Amino acid sequence: MSGRPAIRPDRLQDRLARFAAIGATPKGGVDRQALTQGDRQARALLVDLAGSRGFSVRQDAAANLFLRRPGEDADLPPLLLGSHLDTQPTGGRFDGALGVLAAFEVLEALEDAGVSAPRSVEIAVWTNEEGSRFAPGAMGSQAFASGLLPAEWLDARASDGARLGDELAATIGSLPAPVTSLGFPIAAYLELHIEQGPVLERENTPIGVVTGIQGTLWLAVELEGRAAHAGTTPLDFRQDPMRAAATAMAELYRTVMPTDPDARFTIGRIEVQPGSINSVPESVRFTIDLRHPDAAVLAGLERQVRAACKNASADSACRLSIHRLLDMPPIVFPETMVRLVEESAQRAKLATRRIVSGAFHDAVHLARCAPTAMIFCPCRDGISHNEAEHVEPHFAAAGTTALLEATLSVLAR
Ligand code: GLV
Ligand code: MN
Ligand code: MN
Ligand code: MN
Repeated sequence: MSGRPAIRPDRLQDRLARFAAIGATPKGGVDRQALTQGDRQARALLVDLAGSRGFSVRQDAAANLFLRRPGEDADLPPLLLGSHLDTQPTGGRFDGALGVLAAFEVLEALEDAGVSAPRSVEIAVWTNEEGSRFAPGAMGSQAFASGLLPAEWLDARASDGARLGDELAATIGSLPAPVTSLGFPIAAYLELHIEQGPVLERENTPIGVVTGIQGTLWLAVELEGRAAHAGTTPLDFRQDPMRAAATAMAELYRTVMPTDPDARFTIGRIEVQPGSINSVPESVRFTIDLRHPDAAVLAGLERQVRAACKNASADSACRLSIHRLLDMPPIVFPETMVRLVEESAQRAKLATRRIVSGAFHDAVHLARCAPTAMIFCPCRDGISHNEAEHVEPHFAAAGTTALLEATLSVLAR
């Protein structure tokens, strides 16, 4: 290697602002959901930037996008740095974008310093990490790790009627980049992300070294009853799916999180048909996001959810079906990679703290392919999946410096 590379915080801030403008919301957040025009526009900007630095670009059948700074030995598996550019419907400017743009800053810093290393360093922009437009989340990284793009994913419909398979094809077609097959060997994977919780900011610690990620389960619950007149139908004539849903929800809100501080239980979407003020509904569908760091406890929570829904549906004479939209067991990152990140940050005089991730990330799937590690940046008030999400520039710079140092550590191995 030649000169010692350094990141340029001003350039990183400028990039964050340019990407935040794509899908910007009036409240200062971003709506750039997976495979929409906004997502395509953000990808196109990144491909332009890659072209201006001479990085090569390719994509795969899951519309994952890769930007490569070639090493001296094209046969060596690359070090992969990645995250995502899609957002929640009312998302922030940093969830995902910070990781991609920090990775781009690392590539530029290597380029600026003329670093030559045998191994290529490549950025992955994973498709549909959020999962709010099309389930499951972390779809692109799962496809990369498994080499599969299941037919049921391709036929999934967004609430706007769009079919995933069509949106993938249109997104791939919107870029001037060749399409290669799903998955390739990699040497290691590093991802920087905002913490999305309050721990690092509270302690004023710039670098979170992620030791693992808790498990997540997404369930789609469907209750079917019988539509009926709100004014004329007595209780014993009703098959009311809303009554069943409300009963199950009340029971689960009362039992899941209050009895286990590590459990997470969220109902984020509910749809009622026909949705008329004076009709007993025909059907109610809702989603459950269930999380726990312990796989056995998470399995027990799923049984608890199924039992509560079953009892409530029987009580209201409704039909019940439950299916899994996402099943991501907890993972622990290898201690060697955790230590590599810690030592890299400490070399740059940055204080670190070990932390378990409550959010899932594409790194969950990459951990099946190669040694994987994650770096967290503090965020203001622990707020994320919210337009108010904010990362102080000095924390973004610190995290990016840690990512650069960890990159250099992997390249030196
Ligand atoms: C990812 O956005 C998650 O829900 O953890
Ligand atoms: Mn994210
Ligand atoms: Mn997110
Ligand atoms: Mn996420």
